[in-house]
Amino acid sequence: MRSEATQSDDLELRLLLEAIHEKSRYDFRDYSHASLKRRLVQARDRFNCASFSQLQHRVLHDPSFIAELLPYLTVQVSELFRDPSYFMALRTQVIPHLRTYPSLKVWVAGCSAGEELYSLAILFREEGLESRTIFYATDINVDALKKAEAGVYELDRLALFTENHRKAGGKASLSNYYTAAYGHAKFDKDLRARTVFSDHSLVSDAVFAETHLISCRNVMIYFNRELQDRAIGLFKDSLARRGFLGIGAKESLRFSAHATAFTDFDREQRIYQKA
Ligand SMILES: C[S@@+](CC[C@H](N)C(=O)[O-])C[C@H]1O[C@@H](n2cnc3c(N)ncnc32)[C@H](O)[C@@H]1O
Repeated sequence: MRSEATQSDDLELRLLLEAIHEKSRYDFRDYSHASLKRRLVQARDRFNCASFSQLQHRVLHDPSFIAELLPYLTVQVSELFRDPSYFMALRTQVIPHLRTYPSLKVWVAGCSAGEELYSLAILFREEGLESRTIFYATDINVDALKKAEAGVYELDRLALFTENHRKAGGKASLSNYYTAAYGHAKFDKDLRARTVFSDHSLVSDAVFAETHLISCRNVMIYFNRELQDRAIGLFKDSLARRGFLGIGAKESLRFSAHATAFTDFDREQRIYQKA
């Protein structure tokens, strides 16, 4: 049984999420509470608040506070070619299908600071599809989107990115795609020349284009079942017939209300195809 303290903590947390919803365009009410709570406990400590109610007070009375809270509400962890076997499967199994289309649209939903976008842009360049593709890179975190547009990463992350790229079947050295200076790697701006960056929420926004591949990895793990269904419904509506959806290694469509709209394309890599 939950203790009284936990119950009132959870109630205060719900009210905090209501306040954020009322005072901003962000709606975290249907995110998975356990992980949100862990991160908001960190925020509570960081902002010297004794309770979630005190955080709520600041949300209600300080218009600039939500921006400070946002890094605790969203998780930005990412890597270039994260889970290399996923990108290898795209390269060897999905790309041959995409090659048959004269023009392509790819949606990177929840793109964080752009690591997944650059991975796909490099993959598409290496496979000769870059010039016929438009990429949409979307996220709710505007700071992350700015970083994605800049394409600059700390140099000490590049060893891992390089190793991931190699394991993903990279056809050239990753260093061909960036210039290093002053402790940073700046990715070739041509890689994002065909990308539309946009502030778009899977919680509240609608479909904006017909797409052939959607990569939305490690985003829906933070959602509850209803919200996952909403997002998967958007992907279903956006994808062209026989379009592909890639999700994270710990995610599944199996229990979704839209499960029958997709078939397993590569079960292990969590790549689905719209029926
Ligand atoms: C852990 S990152 C995933 C980055 C990348 N897709 C990957 O797998 O490495 C999760 C991203 O989802 C974004 N996000 C959270 N809620 C969202 C929503 N409702 N709509 C769109 N993006 C969202 C966060 O801002 C964050 O950038």
